[in-house]
Amino acid sequence: MTNADFEKIVDTSDEWIVTRTGISERHIAGDDISSADMAIKASERALESAGLTHEDIDLVICGTVTPDYKLPSNACVVQEKLGFPNAVAFDVVSACTGFINGLSIANSLIATGQNRRALVIGTEKLSSFTNYEDRNTCVLFGDAAGAAVVEACDDGRGVLSSFMKSDGSLRPLLWSKVGGSRYPYPRDFAFDGSDKILMNGSDIFKVAVRAMSKAAKEVISIAGLTIDDIALIVPHQANIRIIDAVAKRLGVGRDRMFINIEKYGNTSSASVPLALDEASRSGRIKDGDHVVMVAFGGGLIWGATLVKW
Ligand code: UT7
Repeated sequence: MTNADFEKIVDTSDEWIVTRTGISERHIAGDDISSADMAIKASERALESAGLTHEDIDLVICGTVTPDYKLPSNACVVQEKLGFPNAVAFDVVSACTGFINGLSIANSLIATGQNRRALVIGTEKLSSFTNYEDRNTCVLFGDAAGAAVVEACDDGRGVLSSFMKSDGSLRPLLWSKVGGSRYPYPRDFAFDGSDKILMNGSDIFKVAVRAMSKAAKEVISIAGLTIDDIALIVPHQANIRIIDAVAKRLGVGRDRMFINIEKYGNTSSASVPLALDEASRSGRIKDGDHVVMVAFGGGLIWGATLVKW
């Protein structure tokens, strides 16, 4: 869906969207495609590039705020559809930080020996959750999925440090009011957007810049490295101006920030794995590179992971 498509449905312009967000287009899944369907495609590709079979996976973690069902988890749907006989599967509800938190949990479970190989997924069908009458939010979001296989290795590569933080008092900045147990759908619910994404963009913007910069600095410091050791930063793709402001605070140029927001918009928990996959497949990440992934989202919640690729 291009910016021109939005000009036909809300009072907006390509010029506003590009200059204020950096987004030119975003992908919208068809009615017959769910977030678990996209997760399954991404997982198949991750398994293929890892050269593994379904029996090798014993942990499936899915970051999502748009699961197929309220019950059970998307991870269980993926487990059933792909057939992981030896796995435990569960979701992580951390909005745009879902993949980062999933990776951190997988890393800890593998490090303690409880699990051997994890499939960590971020998948969102945000179009099912977007109010296409609200120009403040609808132009921002897209649908996508990404996945990664994680296993232990003994050559010094892998997750070197992780950081996770949240502040629940800021949850009204980004939430969905109606449809949960606090405000169930009234019998006579008339659409007013309250069951879709509700966001205070400009307040979130400021917290996002501060929190993502601090989280990235934190994982670099925990790993005993400096910013000069980092080959690439893979940030959550929410707004090009947020990415630029984080780069400035970290003291790096755009050349060390991976950016693909122009093609996908904000895809929440899918954003980081989607960017990571494009960065690695396009040769932007090389063996031995230090890579920082950093994200921020509804909760509010934020986090970062530093890996040696
Ligand atoms: O995924 C993690 C969570 N989300 C985020 O990180 C989002 C963070 N926030 C943002 O990316 C930005 O705040 C937005 C892109 C959402 C908004 O940009 P902004 O520069 O903060 O704009 P604003 O909200 O301050 O609005 C400025 C003006 C307003 O008009 P008035 O009141 O000045 O007349 C808005 O109504 O821009 C107007 N506006 C639009 N105009 C054209 C808002 N959306 C649109 C639009 N087209 N789509």
